[in-house]
Amino acid sequence: MNYFQSFQEVKPDPILGLAAKYKKDPNPNKINLTIGVYKSEEAQIALFRSVHEAEKLIWDEKLNKGYPPIDGTAEFKEELIKLVAPEQDAKHFYIAHTVGATSALRLSGELMKQMGIENIFFSDLTWPNHPHVFKNAGLKTFTFPYYNASSHELEIEAIYKALNDIPEKSAVLFQMSCHNPTGMDPNKEQWTQIIQIIKDKNIFPIIDCAYQGFGQGLQEDVLAFKLLMEQVDQAIVCYSCAKNFGLYGERVGALIAFDKSKKSLENLGQNARVTIRGNYSTPPIHGARIVKTILQSQELSQVWSEELTKMRLRVKELRQDFLKSLEQKNIPIDFKHIIKDQGLFSLLALPKDAILKLREEFGVYILDNGRINIAGLCQKNMEAVTSSIQKVINHNV
Ligand code: LMR
Repeated sequence: MNYFQSFQEVKPDPILGLAAKYKKDPNPNKINLTIGVYKSEEAQIALFRSVHEAEKLIWDEKLNKGYPPIDGTAEFKEELIKLVAPEQDAKHFYIAHTVGATSALRLSGELMKQMGIENIFFSDLTWPNHPHVFKNAGLKTFTFPYYNASSHELEIEAIYKALNDIPEKSAVLFQMSCHNPTGMDPNKEQWTQIIQIIKDKNIFPIIDCAYQGFGQGLQEDVLAFKLLMEQVDQAIVCYSCAKNFGLYGERVGALIAFDKSKKSLENLGQNARVTIRGNYSTPPIHGARIVKTILQSQELSQVWSEELTKMRLRVKELRQDFLKSLEQKNIPIDFKHIIKDQGLFSLLALPKDAILKLREEFGVYILDNGRINIAGLCQKNMEAVTSSIQKVINHNV
């Protein structure tokens, strides 16, 4: 009996599958603008100096590698909550240190299922793994309108309407800032209105927070959570330390549950621990030690936030330079939104065949939906990217 033969054929992941394809491409001039990672001027993933210094301190401590508690160590969690909700009393939160934010999303899905929630709604578009994760957790997945690809604006009235129509026993997943893949976030007034609807309709809010510090600033980028906590009784944030600490492969994340009354936190925590134990048992320790060591030290925190600020400002400059270079090429597509978008991504309004040609003829890899990782551009590859776009659009190469 060949059990493995019974698998159905499945498509590769739209982001990591493409990264694998890029790796195999023999083109010596290939440029990877797919996966959302911050790259340096040398087009390399940057190791933060603060991370390196923290690792040296950890090394010197000669800590053993014993198991952590099922939902992580208290010290990591105490530091993280100060970063995400500095004005709130930590007693309002249950936090589980998870395997990156993806397992926080999965854990939230399983907990929601246990809470009696049946449906989850995402923005159209969203991170392609969102529906996958929540379907696997047993929820029914739906979308609500979000972005107008012609005007490069939020479909704000359609968002309000769709949220108002959401049925009972539903959750809505929002992205805290630096929306993936559009780069378009609601402003303060729009968030206020969205949150009012969430409250009135009794919708359960989940926020995916993967880019704190890459939008407007560390505190500015968690405004949506601050506004949410003023209005609703309960919410969950799924937090990633991948981008803002450059700890992608260390898989450091957290599920942060807010309960205004604090009454249900113990029960939630017990259920979370049982769910985690039946899944990956305990989280990996090294990345969380790095984050904790940085945040506990005034000096390292300062170094870290300065590094992050430099990265944020550099991505904004890259956006300006990218637009300028595109405009010099007289390409008949509106790219002005690039300098308004927040975070690492923008959606380029390129036809599908142009995106394929960029990849196949010029080795310029962006996602099939036109998402480009702006933080993968640098002065060395900018001209090659924009002239390839010019060739596929203006000269139909
Ligand atoms: C991305 O959207 O590129 C990142 O969130 C990385 C990933 O795991 O997909």
